[in-house]
This record gives sequence, structure tokens and C-alpha cells, in this order.
Amino acid sequence: MDSVSNLLKKGWINKNRPGVVLAPMEGVTDAPMRALLSEHSPYLFCVTEFLRVTHLAPPTKVFYRHIPELKTQSLTANDTPVLVQLLGGDAQVLAEAAQTAVQLGARGIDLNFGCPAPTVNRHDGGATLLKYPKRLLDITSAVRKAVPAEISVSVKLRLGWDNPDDIFKNVDAVLAAGVSWITIHARTRMQGYAPPVSWQHIKEVARQAPVPIVANGDIWNFSDFLRCHEITECKHFMIGRGALGNPWLAHQMTHYLNTGSPPTDLFSPTTPADWNPLIQRFWALGESQSSKPEYFTRRIKQWIKMASLKKEMSWFHQLKHCQTHNETLNLFQSAQ
Ligand SMILES: Cc1cc2nc3c(=O)[nH]c(=O)nc-3n(C[C@H](O)[C@H](O)[C@H](O)COP(=O)(O)O)c2cc1C
Repeated sequence: MDSVSNLLKKGWINKNRPGVVLAPMEGVTDAPMRALLSEHSPYLFCVTEFLRVTHLAPPTKVFYRHIPELKTQSLTANDTPVLVQLLGGDAQVLAEAAQTAVQLGARGIDLNFGCPAPTVNRHDGGATLLKYPKRLLDITSAVRKAVPAEISVSVKLRLGWDNPDDIFKNVDAVLAAGVSWITIHARTRMQGYAPPVSWQHIKEVARQAPVPIVANGDIWNFSDFLRCHEITECKHFMIGRGALGNPWLAHQMTHYLNTGSPPTDLFSPTTPADWNPLIQRFWALGESQSSKPEYFTRRIKQWIKMASLKKEMSWFHQLKHCQTHNETLNLFQSAQ
């Protein structure tokens, strides 16, 4: 396996190292969840939930609270790198925030130009920037110049605000800024999370781009991945909701990317008994993070709800009624 310093020299992503990236998901893929998912699948790296940067660069304590891995060399407990995602519209303040992150130990900066949340967009952040390629260029250039060359600067784009073909000029803008790679969620801002996802657009970008393109959007299971791989011809994929629904999905995808054949075991957890070890582990990983046990119950409901979007898990209605962490843990333990 490549050492972290080797990877820093060669880049986290390169064509000889295909693989899967864990998506940033605000309120979902926090440090305990990043730790849990990276224990179950070999991610190239995780990207943190976005850290919003408005008028001032966040102070150190905010970085540490948001990204506790900064205190452990930006690695999860099993040595998976964690890259810092920033969101904002002010090039100078973002550049300062990136410098602070790097001083605290960040190994790479990812810029969020895809968030569709109306409150974020109203305050000049996320997908709003997709309307202004020149601003994408200015922000990405400022951040690129502010951090040392060995620190990657990547961006996460949607296809456009309302026109999917805007992806081409926006990609040109961030390429001109010297971006290390580009992740594309293959939908417009106006689509939100509605179908269809357009992997075809990713293919057209990837065919011409001189940097790696990470394909993202609607890879819920192994057969979605095969179709996305076939259509985009990418070597790098980011998964979010699919990773929550099946913590082994990235393992299965990585096996295919490395060997060219599907793994013999395509297990995906469905019953409470299947989920029990994952839930117990999440409880153990998160215990030190929150003094409020009801927080745990809320997170488990959120997680299983996401997993049940694409799988029949009729027992979810029982979980909905659990009030305490003991009730929640018992639901899974009693299924053993
Ligand atoms: C609850 C939620 C939170 C998200 N938070 C972020 C975020 O902080 N930064 C970001 O770039 N994308 C965020 N996303 C988008 C995901 O990273 C990803 O692009 C999207 O879910 C599509 O991928 P998927 O189909 O594999 O989930 C979020 C998505 C969801 C559903």
C-alpha cells in the first residue's frame, strides 16, 4: 500500500489508482460515520461535510470540532485520509480558510460548488456559483495559490444551475485555475435529487479532461455502479447514500476496479440482524462525540431511513417508534 507521503507526491487520485471516494454529506457523514464506513470499505479518501466560510475564516476550534481527524494527521482510525471541504463565495476568505486548514494538518481542500440548499444559495454559496464561471475561476485560483503545491485543491460541481450543458464551461474555468481533480454530481441544481441523473455528461467531460473526473450520483448498488462505470468510463467514483445503505458497496466496487470481475459476495444488509453489528459499532464510535443519547437514536433513524429508500426494510416503522438509545439498541440486538 502507498504511504501517505507517497500519495501526497503522486496525488490522491491518479489513473493507476482507481477507486471510490466517500461523499461529503452534511449532518450524516460526520467523523464517527466516516470512521465506521472506512472500516468496512477501502475508500481512497473521505471528504468532510462542508464547512461554511462567510465573512471571516473560521477559527481553529471550529475546524477541530468539525474535523476532529485534523488532530490525527487527517486520517481516520484506520488510516483513511480525510480531505477538508469548504463552502463559500468570497475568494479571499476561502483562501485564508484553506491556509488555516493546511496549518492545522489538512492534506487537501475540496471546494463545494454543488450544494442546492436555498439558504446556502441565497448567501452566495454552493450551486449558485455555477452561474458564474469567472467566479469559479477566481475562487479556485485564490485557494490554489494560497496553499502549497503538494496540497490538492479539488472541486465538487453539479452539471449546472438549470442547464446541464453549463458543465463544460464550468469545468474549463476550474481547469484554468489548476484544479487537481473534479467531482461531478450529474444533476443540475434545479433538479435537486430528482431523476434523471446524467452520467452521459460525465462521460463527455471525462473524455477530454486532463485531470481525473470522479463520477457521482445515484450509485445505490453494485449494478448501478457497473452501469455508471460503463457509461462514464471513469476510474473514480464517489458514493454517498449508497454507502450508507450498504457499507460494503465501496469494497465491492473497488474489487471490480482492481480485478475487472465482480466479487463473489454482493452482500447488502437488510434485516435488523444484518444491521446489528454496524449499529453497535456506530454507537461505540459516536459515544465520545455526544453527551446526548437521543442524538444516537436520531442518527440511526436518519441512517436507516436513507438505507430503506432503495430496499424493502418493513421493520423501519418499528425503529421510528424507538425513543431512547436503549430501545434502539435492543431492536437490533433482539433480532440476533
Ligand atoms: C443529506 C445530504 C447532505 C449532503 N451534504 C453535502 C456536503 O456537505 N457537501 C457536498 O459536496 N455534497 C453534499 N451532499 C451531496 C452528496 O455528496 C452527493 O453528491 C449526492 O448525495 C449524490 O450522490 P449519491 O447519489 O451517491 O448520494 C449531500 C447530500 C445529502 C443527501
